[in-house]
Amino acid sequence: ASVVQRLWRGSVSSGMLSPRLQRAMGDYLSANKHHVTYKGGRRAAQSSRELLCELKDQARLRTLDGSEQPFSSLGWAHLVPRLALEQLYRQGGQRGFRSCAVVTSAGAILHSGLGKEIDSHDAVLRFNAAPTEGYVRDVGNKTTIRIINSQILANPKNHFNTSSLYKKVTLVAWDPAPYAVNLHKWYASPDYNLFSPYVEHRRLHPTQPFYVLHPKYVWQLWDVIQGNTQETIQPNPPSSGFIGILLMMALCEEVHVYEYIPSLRQTDLCHYHERYYDAACTLGAYHPLLYEKSLVQRINTGPERDLKRKGRVTLPGFSTVNC
Ligand code: C5P
Repeated sequence: ASVVQRLWRGSVSSGMLSPRLQRAMGDYLSANKHHVTYKGGRRAAQSSRELLCELKDQARLRTLDGSEQPFSSLGWAHLVPRLALEQLYRQGGQRGFRSCAVVTSAGAILHSGLGKEIDSHDAVLRFNAAPTEGYVRDVGNKTTIRIINSQILANPKNHFNTSSLYKKVTLVAWDPAPYAVNLHKWYASPDYNLFSPYVEHRRLHPTQPFYVLHPKYVWQLWDVIQGNTQETIQPNPPSSGFIGILLMMALCEEVHVYEYIPSLRQTDLCHYHERYYDAACTLGAYHPLLYEKSLVQRINTGPERDLKRKGRVTLPGFSTVNC
């Protein structure tokens, strides 16, 4: 069976990857750029309910609120949005979102015709610089939240300050701190400098909701992936896709994820909006993607035909899971 067929059934191992991807994984393991020192165990298969409860408990959504140093001295308590992200969509008696769609940027979503279905959700999450214009039939055109990595803020080629991709939506940025999460060290040397563009953007557009994920949140997600995988996973943060899925599970009652676990349209085309081919985008080299996807498949409540035809996974929101 191919790696993707194995993913549909939820049993994967790095041995199924091409020699090139296996070598890349090995290089990231020996580099250990973020100084990961994992002390937890590795559980044998938990039931999907146990896994959901562990995620609900470990993956408490957390953004920088300016209460910790060095951010408190820098006045971030007044810089960040007044309402926490968890509260933003629960004002005035609202109960958060009922249905949500997470749209990955995978090439496999091309020619899917999923646009209308995606837009029918209460909220839609998209990633980084993924456009809707020109692709509405396949990816829809509604965007409620956009998760952006620090490269989007730091690299001038993305035109973060002027592009319409980053306007009229809730923005959530992230950057990997060292595994031990020393905020002083992180502030002094982030992977890509997101701090000054964030501050500038907050000053210019104070009414646009814009958050920075707490790096502890990102590594706690990583811990759950490693803790539920027998193999040693890449010591690098989870992909934006995994982070976005868990974020929406905290804000929505039901989450549909599109083309994270690939459909029959699986392709080496990295992004639907770019002519660049690399299987690493789908199966992982830097990010522990294969293991993230296997974990998500284990909590999928939708049928296999949704996976094959739509690349669609159905997940319960945390508010509906009683642990
Ligand atoms: O590449 P980028 O991080 O912007 O894509 C957003 C997310 O979509 C990724 O973090 C990954 O989780 C998912 N993705 C995927 N397969 C691809 C491309 C992206 O699963 N071929």
